[in-house]
Amino acid sequence: NNKINPIIAFDGYSSTGKSSYAKMLAQKFGWFHIDTGAMYRAVTLYAIENFYKNNTIDELALIVHLNDIHIEFKQNSDSSNNEIYLNSKNVENRIRAFDISEQVSLVAKIPEVREYLVKQQRNIGKNGGIVMDGRDIGTVVFPNADLKFFITASIEERAKRRFLDFKKLHKNISLQEVEENLKQRDYIDENRLVAPLIQATDAVLIDNTHLSKEETFCKIVQIVKNRFKFE
Ligand code: DC
Repeated sequence: NNKINPIIAFDGYSSTGKSSYAKMLAQKFGWFHIDTGAMYRAVTLYAIENFYKNNTIDELALIVHLNDIHIEFKQNSDSSNNEIYLNSKNVENRIRAFDISEQVSLVAKIPEVREYLVKQQRNIGKNGGIVMDGRDIGTVVFPNADLKFFITASIEERAKRRFLDFKKLHKNISLQEVEENLKQRDYIDENRLVAPLIQATDAVLIDNTHLSKEETFCKIVQIVKNRFKFE
């Protein structure tokens, strides 16, 4: 099993750091990283900009216009990161804002949206050499992935981490609001009918509630090296 172009899936809860680990792993071994949550966030941004009335997204209008949404990933100038573009505009930072976090789970549970994005995700990853993170990568997008991780941590710890991120951005939002939003998203993600958040039976579970970022990453790298017989 000396594969140098594997498909590696990272699934799990929000604010467990799974996107960061996926990115670090891809950088370390020269693979491509795709954050599929960013794709759901980009669709949500498009919906808010175009089909937002009376504090709700017009889902029917969004479904009808899905083909107007073009998503690309491009390496940023120092090629340390893939950034997401929505209809040729860089939206990497905009999609992390709280208004998007509030709506994204509702958009992500629309079956037509998932179908539209999953098709693109499979296409991007089909040749391997990819680390993809999301909620349904190991269960739906690539059920035959070469290696699957499922990352979790306690709700209190995740809320604390996300709160500190928002604080760095000088966002005026309370720990309680952040925790409430995480709980709501967990609930919607776990209970939707199509591709709910669930651990694949063959995924490696990592609970990093009591692990630092470095410790968690070290563990992941060990598992990857063992699995693929890397030095
Ligand atoms: O990882 P994130 O917080 O950026 O994800 C945003 C939302 O998108 C999250 O609430 C669940 C959804 N999502 C999904 O349903 N399937 C994926 N593969 C990735 C994200």
